Amino acid sequence: MAEIRLQSISKRFGEVEVIPGLDLTMPDGQVTVLLGPSGCGKSTLLRMIAGLETPSGGEVIVGGRVVNDVPPAERGCALVFQNYALYPHKTVRQNLAFPLRMAKVDAAEQQRSVDEIASTLELTPLLDRYPRQLSGGQRQRVAMGRAMIRRPEVFLYDEPLSNLDLELRVKLRLEIARMQRASKATAVYVTHDQTEAMTLADQIVVLRKGRIEQVGSPLALYRSPANLFVAGFIGTPRMNLFRVDATEQNAAGTRLRIGATSLQVPQRLNGEVRTLGFRAEQLRIGAPQPGQVALELRDCETLAVEQLGDRAFCYLRSSLGDLVLLTPGAETTLPRDLQLSLSPEALHFFDANELALRRESEAEAVAA
Ligand SMILES: Nc1ncnc2c1ncn2[C@@H]1O[C@H](COP(=O)(O)OP(=O)(O)OP(=O)(O)O)[C@@H](O)[C@H]1O
Ligand SMILES: [Mg+2]
Repeated sequence: MAEIRLQSISKRFGEVEVIPGLDLTMPDGQVTVLLGPSGCGKSTLLRMIAGLETPSGGEVIVGGRVVNDVPPAERGCALVFQNYALYPHKTVRQNLAFPLRMAKVDAAEQQRSVDEIASTLELTPLLDRYPRQLSGGQRQRVAMGRAMIRRPEVFLYDEPLSNLDLELRVKLRLEIARMQRASKATAVYVTHDQTEAMTLADQIVVLRKGRIEQVGSPLALYRSPANLFVAGFIGTPRMNLFRVDATEQNAAGTRLRIGATSLQVPQRLNGEVRTLGFRAEQLRIGAPQPGQVALELRDCETLAVEQLGDRAFCYLRSSLGDLVLLTPGAETTLPRDLQLSLSPEALHFFDANELALRRESEAEAVAA
């Protein structure tokens, strides 16, 4: 059993408070992904679990044991980082066997483990090569194999794929997912890539400035983002977001004024709604069915098309503002006046102002 629990964990570097105090449980045998923009404290959290960074307050509990004073090597955690460091003068076989040699595992058992892990990671034909004779992806697989070989109870990954080209990233992402399912080890995976998070996670933790914005399964976060920040972070393309200028309740629900246009929704909303959101894939072209919400767009101009072959994402400028729409089929020539519809459940309402949030994160980026 290796559940990981962080209790009131905090971290400051000198005067700078990076993690103000946070509670989080990473369930046994599951993959928890820490997701958030650059500088939000993902690596710092991971390093505190690993023992490479000392918390300023709170406790790190692994498998029911407080490990704050346990050195990294004795925490039973395997680390896989972005910058894999292999021993250049050792072969792949020797690199893989190294942790076993250090642990004084007998030679026959070493050989058996190396062969097994090499076969899992498709490294068997490369066992006698040196790191300089490998591609980036092959090297990363060796680094993963070296981390895996002692069958740790906990895997800690810090953006292990971000140095690789797209094709390899996709391949290794699936490899990690498969390996995690097979090993049933607890894993914490740091990334700022939401596709990676959606592929690998049992549980995603969205972080912002050292605070938790939301914890949930990939689908829960996609379907019910708790706030504007999560809504903007989960899902590609990003959720369409519009500033709501005024709301007016009526017999049919609420009329939302968005710039020069307005939109009738069945929900009874108070005046605190500042932003309306819906996803590209929820929009349907054509008049609404009974019970659906109608969206009339005028002066539509296609800004860009992301062709998927059987469907396409069309990026439009319209009377409502800029938005993206998933068209069925590859047809992307849209009329200037466009009638769309969507189901009321596809609408998200937020009390925060999208522009204010965007300005804030731009200011953060400049400050960083
Ligand atoms: N040793 C340090 N001394 C001072 N500040 C630090 C130190 N390490 C990290 N920080 C700061 O703590 C904050 C969080 O850093 P961290 O590396 O955890 O971010 P991250 O979420 O992993 O970002 P990225 O996606 O860019 O890797 C940043 O503002 C960073 O500048
Ligand atoms: Mg980091």
